[in-house]
Amino acid sequence: MCGIIGVTTSKRDNVVDVIIEGLRRLEYRGYDSVGIAVVDEQGRIVAKKAAGTIDSFVRKTDLSSIKGRTGIGHTRWATHGPPTDYNAHPHTDCNAKVAVVHNGVIRNFSSLRQLLVARGHRVKSETDTELIAHLLEEKLEESTSGVEALSRALHEIQGTYALGILVAGEPDKIYFARMRSPLIVGIGDGENAIASDIPAIISLTRRVLVLEDGEFGYITPHRVEIYRLTGDGYRRVPQNLVVSRIKTIEWTPEAASKSGYPHFMIKEIFEQPEALYATLSGSVEDPLVREAARIILGAEKVVVVGAGTSYHAGLVLEYFLAKLAGIVSYPLIASEYKVLEEAVGEDTVVVAVSQSGETFDTLEAVRTFKERGASIIGVTNVVGSALSREADLTLYTRAGPEIGVAATKTYLTQVLLLELLAVFAGEMSGRYDSSTTRRYLDVLSKAPITAKDSIEVGDPEARMLARRLVKPSMYIIGRGLGAMLAKEAALKIKEIAYLHAEAYPAGESKHGPIALVEEGFPVFVVATGDSPEVAGNAVEMRARGAWVRVVKPANYELELPSDVEVQATPPVDSHLLEPFSIIPFFQLLAYHTAVSRGYDPDKPRNLAKTVTVE
Ligand code: AGP
Repeated sequence: MCGIIGVTTSKRDNVVDVIIEGLRRLEYRGYDSVGIAVVDEQGRIVAKKAAGTIDSFVRKTDLSSIKGRTGIGHTRWATHGPPTDYNAHPHTDCNAKVAVVHNGVIRNFSSLRQLLVARGHRVKSETDTELIAHLLEEKLEESTSGVEALSRALHEIQGTYALGILVAGEPDKIYFARMRSPLIVGIGDGENAIASDIPAIISLTRRVLVLEDGEFGYITPHRVEIYRLTGDGYRRVPQNLVVSRIKTIEWTPEAASKSGYPHFMIKEIFEQPEALYATLSGSVEDPLVREAARIILGAEKVVVVGAGTSYHAGLVLEYFLAKLAGIVSYPLIASEYKVLEEAVGEDTVVVAVSQSGETFDTLEAVRTFKERGASIIGVTNVVGSALSREADLTLYTRAGPEIGVAATKTYLTQVLLLELLAVFAGEMSGRYDSSTTRRYLDVLSKAPITAKDSIEVGDPEARMLARRLVKPSMYIIGRGLGAMLAKEAALKIKEIAYLHAEAYPAGESKHGPIALVEEGFPVFVVATGDSPEVAGNAVEMRARGAWVRVVKPANYELELPSDVEVQATPPVDSHLLEPFSIIPFFQLLAYHTAVSRGYDPDKPRNLAKTVTVE
């Protein structure tokens, strides 16, 4: 995710150094570009920005030429448009009367861009953010105040945003707005700030107020004004309520970079609802997703390639392409690409899944298949990654950077994006019409809340269960989609808790694996709605003394004996939501088991976040 900071002060004559320092404290969020803007003494907006790191920006930018008591800064994690100088934030309007920094995704950016260009605005970048500056330019001309102008602009924006805004001629004000992307206000003595996250401002103040969705307003060095969007207008939040929401943060700067969580992994598990919402917001109207579905339908062969967790996400695409579009696809572990080399050609489309977009095995497979004439669809979390440069068409998750080595939010956002792709493929295959597609999209819109419920309910239960996971080995089994989810569950436990968790299709038990089962052997059974017969596999394991725990959505009824434990996850009304109900529990179980065994879940032994070697 992008990082935002804004500071307005009466106690120092220049905010540039404070902003740069704040951006450095947001570097852990991952970024590819950086920028800063101030309102100088003459009330003019001066902005500097560049692709690259903060160090390279400071080296090549004459920061002494920028001076002001009010300014905003930004570290960009690209979602719309590659990392370039002109795509970096802040973005300004036609006449540099407005400067904007943004974290989030504007869902209606295509129609907004057409509208603003048609009205004569000179849009300079490929970003959705710049459109906000031009929209505000218009609203300021037709409004009596900055607050009114911002309210009007926000009513025309759909999607997610945390905004920091400067307006020329208002040298002591920073406007802000929040919708589903985190934004806080820091209350200092003679200076106030806004930021995406506490680390950016913890050296300025420990008194913070967390903004809520739909809130906007402004800060000056001595004042915080907050408003709430209503219907087609807005209303002011009374000052006494504003003051009552100010909290004092006791975190150390290091703890603050994890937003108070002990590890990045648990923070990223809890970030999944926001990541899922951002991914859906940015994809559901993206024409490239339908274009990718059209390419898949036009191919003779479909290969879905990835490594590790990304391979497991690809299995979910295999499942729903078959179920919804009647398309047979071949999921392929990237390092095994040579198995299909001779079978791939111009009649083949390859869907390559990689959150980093830099995994050596996946890139090798892609380059080989590309040379054989295959079409390549990339699915990645990193704009400008090697995969996005190799692919003919790239779809982006919008999970934000994932610091923990274990893939968590990037997996679930991959699953959501791939399910969306399968839904569109199903409609294009003619198996159903657009009204059914709309019903499926309504189902997918519940993914964030399903994951949120799974995390909140599952966290304390997983923490308790972790203490019982003492055996060195375990099985995680399922049928159909459950067998695919079981693979991801097992990998999490293996790579983070160092316990040998083996996943396989439950029907295989009697063909060999059940020989391993003895008294107390842990067996998790992932029960999905497509395979109620998995109850029989739970019973046959229990009959041989295994400790059996069936993990299933609460509304799925299964005939189970009383000595088979049940882990109820949030109820779902569609197979499409099963990953978001079930997987967070296993992510949390892996995390808490690792912590209870004294391991660092962020840095598991022998592993790297991105495997760029063969
Ligand atoms: C998942 O928890 C692991 N960190 C690993 O399996 C990872 O998914 C794999 O290396 C693929 O990475 P990618 O998505 O960046 O290609």
